[in-house]
Amino acid sequence: MGLLSDLAARFRHERATLALDDIQALILRSRPEPYVGLHAMLRFDDAARGRDLVRRLAGHIPSAAGWTGDRAAWIGAAFSHQGLQALGVPQASLDSFPLPFRQGMAARAAQLRDVDGNAPAHWEAAFEPGNCHLALTIYARDEAALAEAREKALGELARSRGVTLVGSHAFGADADAKNPFGFRDSISQPAVAGSGVDPLPGQERAIAAGEFILGENSETGAPLAMPQPPELGRNGSFVVLRKYASRPGAFNDFVRDHADGADAQERLAAKMVGRWRSGAPLNLAPERDDPDLGADPARNNAFDFSGDARGFICPHASHMRRLNPRDGKLTILTDVNIHRIIRRSSTFGPKWRPDLTAADDGKEERGIFFIFISARAYDTIEFLQQEWINRGNFIDLGEERDPLVGLHEAPGTFTIPQDPVRRRVDGITTFNRLRGGEYLFMPSLAALRWIGAGGWA
Ligand code: HEM
Repeated sequence: MGLLSDLAARFRHERATLALDDIQALILRSRPEPYVGLHAMLRFDDAARGRDLVRRLAGHIPSAAGWTGDRAAWIGAAFSHQGLQALGVPQASLDSFPLPFRQGMAARAAQLRDVDGNAPAHWEAAFEPGNCHLALTIYARDEAALAEAREKALGELARSRGVTLVGSHAFGADADAKNPFGFRDSISQPAVAGSGVDPLPGQERAIAAGEFILGENSETGAPLAMPQPPELGRNGSFVVLRKYASRPGAFNDFVRDHADGADAQERLAAKMVGRWRSGAPLNLAPERDDPDLGADPARNNAFDFSGDARGFICPHASHMRRLNPRDGKLTILTDVNIHRIIRRSSTFGPKWRPDLTAADDGKEERGIFFIFISARAYDTIEFLQQEWINRGNFIDLGEERDPLVGLHEAPGTFTIPQDPVRRRVDGITTFNRLRGGEYLFMPSLAALRWIGAGGWA
């Protein structure tokens, strides 16, 4: 059963306590498998014309209420600070947003550790500060549904003046949902309390909705700070958009250079991710890949690290374990449940192949649009980038960085615990280079209409 149909089958509208009909579908609805889609980045050159486009677009953006699984495509819309400003949103309201949002992603490069080859100086033009005002994302089950949704969204744009399309990007993956490195992704997602979908085995308890939806109670028992007025903030969320150019050839080379034979190479790659290519977690399939397990949403997340405290099965330094240490003990104590994120990432470019080498990287564009949703705004991404991705001291590994997404200004190390001595594999480089990104706000449907109508006037 595909991921979406599985979620749709577990959705019980009568159990939902959230205002599903006001929340953008993209926040609560999983990516289809297979999927195709489009990201479009727009700039408003005229406030009134921009608002007119937002008003017309609002009618095409579905809510999370009709989660029956039968919808073939959905569009999400999120604004940057400069976008809200360009639409004429009043200063008092703009000032009520968190500081990092007001500054924009490029200005937060130091906090995000976006330096060296990942620095904003190397970003694509669409992400130059002030260029991306509105990001539209379309997810569709197939090309026909995508064409229909694209026609709706870009058709409205074509009927507008005073709005410029600054960039667009097609993406997609087959039913096996493999990313540019040939690994299934988007597997582990938090269950959101009140969304009408109960947690799956291994998903632990549902996380308080306020971690993802503004105005709802968060893990602390109270709502998080919300942009003002409430008509703008309530039922919205914050989005982090980051475009990565992937280097699967360099990753392949690294694995080939450090392990002998196909089995050992697959094992090293799995140790770096925490899962095998199919998505099967090392903790449930320690010896070899198990594609049935990888494809089964009822089982592929049903594990914790209680039997693997020393990381002999899944290294502490693997991408998956770093980004969700679950019940594992950390040297620097943190409440893992306030660092959970909804990921809606998308893969673009031709499929991964085992014969790719570093010389192939860059010949064809392969990569990931990383999309991250959290009502904690940018504290979460900046914490993850600083502590769990680009450092290792929270797991007693000093300055060691994430082997998959860390920035490696000089070749780095990946540590694999084993008895009697741990193995340290040198020569990790930056396998995903940042090409741009922006901090965005995804308003509720009522707020979209409010913005479109200039509701503050
Ligand atoms: C850009 C390249 C990236 C690639 C290729 C990648 C790949 C993966 C893969 C294969 C998984 C395991 C399967 C899954 O649960 O989805 C995963 C999990 C995850 N990734 Fe990434 N990722 C990338 C970037 C990031 C970034 C930048 C972050 C955070 C800032 C992140 C956060 C996570 C989280 C939270 C999980 C789930 C961990 C869990 O709950 O088990 N990823 N990623």
